[in-house]
Amino acid sequence: MKKHRLPPGPKTKIPLGHLTDFRKDIIGFMDKVVKSYGDIVHFRIGPIRIVLLNNPDHIREVLSTRHENFVKGRPLEMTKKLIGNGILTSEGEFHKRQARIIQPAFHRKRVESYVPIIVDCVTKMMKSWEEGETVDIRDEMTEMSSIMAGRIMFNVDIEEESEEIVNALDTATALFGRTSIPFSEWLLKLPLPSSIRFKKAKARLDRLIYGIIEDRRNDDGTHEDLMSLLLYPHGEHDSENTMSDEQIRDEAITLFLTAFDTTSTALTWTWYLLSQNDQVEAEFHEELDRELQGKLPTVGDIGKLPFTRKVMTESMRLFPPTYVTPRESLEDFEIDQYVIPKGSLVLMSQYLIHRDPRFYENPEIFDPHRWDSKEPQRFEYFPFSGGPRTCIGEPLAWMEGVLTLATVGQSWRLRLVSDHPVEMLPLVNLRPKYGMKMTVHKRDE
Ligand code: HEM
Repeated sequence: MKKHRLPPGPKTKIPLGHLTDFRKDIIGFMDKVVKSYGDIVHFRIGPIRIVLLNNPDHIREVLSTRHENFVKGRPLEMTKKLIGNGILTSEGEFHKRQARIIQPAFHRKRVESYVPIIVDCVTKMMKSWEEGETVDIRDEMTEMSSIMAGRIMFNVDIEEESEEIVNALDTATALFGRTSIPFSEWLLKLPLPSSIRFKKAKARLDRLIYGIIEDRRNDDGTHEDLMSLLLYPHGEHDSENTMSDEQIRDEAITLFLTAFDTTSTALTWTWYLLSQNDQVEAEFHEELDRELQGKLPTVGDIGKLPFTRKVMTESMRLFPPTYVTPRESLEDFEIDQYVIPKGSLVLMSQYLIHRDPRFYENPEIFDPHRWDSKEPQRFEYFPFSGGPRTCIGEPLAWMEGVLTLATVGQSWRLRLVSDHPVEMLPLVNLRPKYGMKMTVHKRDE
């Protein structure tokens, strides 16, 4: 018997459907509907049919087992306006080809070769700190991660421009957030102040990337970075089969932006959680002191810091930078007792799954030790997504994350400013709404 029943969910006669609830508090709305209707929920935003999946087995089906039935589709149309048709937004054979070119930049040996750059960027950031001063650790992490990304990927120092670039990205992502997933493309066509700001921000990022491409084309030196892979996929200065400058721009900007915004968000939440959990913080410091003995970390030290890695694992469980992953269905598909029609927008939320008591005991508690006896299970834990479109930069993210935590934590203790409000702002990433004001204290004083 053919199943043909849409899943249950909240109904409304308003033409825009649940757009307002969704935009006002996307996480709260998703949480409410799964609690009321179960693991497969259906609701509408305007003409768009949305299905929210809240079970790791169903999420595995969409992202991995039956991934051919899905594309990133409509939700990424808006992102495409900023970063073009690069590895994050493209589909099918074209995506596969681009992924093959880019993948070597994230192989283990390559990522290990980035360690000195990572540690150097963290050290430079700390040099600007003074005992007891208040910093916005989100800004610090974002600026540092953007400088790191510039050096790792393009071998350029963007220290002077980093603030302006981070502001440009903030402007662009604020527009994504304001408009939420559906309908965002329309707004860009209107001469609204936010659309004008978006276009200016995009132009700023384009100038940066095209400048780097041009400099590199005029440079005879040999480089071993991502830009070389993009410019010369078959080896340095081989002009055959190269991508157009526009395609290189799309890939370069995609990798640059995806690299720094997510990692800095993960680190910001980690500093917050450490500052709120003295016992965990003490154990973290103890591991660093014991294993590093006051020396800056090197490649060889990474494996000696399992607790530091668990701290980051646990932080991304509670505050996954990517808190929801969307897909669009190309055909009708059956899931459980339902048939989800072709063209539906399927949402899967890392945030909801990671805090589900069915998979985690005391899910709201920050406890890195929960990972002592449990390996992260894909789709019960999926901050980097999963399946063929999983995060290509995951090895680099871990390397940057663990090394930044170790390098800073070795010398500094960070304290949340007592009246600083901490709230989530789910835009493209799950950011802290008011930044994260913290005071920095030398550990040896
Ligand atoms: C803590 C840090 C990071 C998190 C949480 C994260 C998360 C994710 C997630 C969830 C996806 C899948 C999106 C989807 O399925 O729609 C993704 C894709 C991607 N990430 Fe990351 N990411 C991080 C760091 C990085 C870094 C350092 C890079 C380096 C360039 C990177 C590059 C990418 C790229 C290129 C894709 C698209 C892959 C594809 O579609 O084939 N990410 N990331």
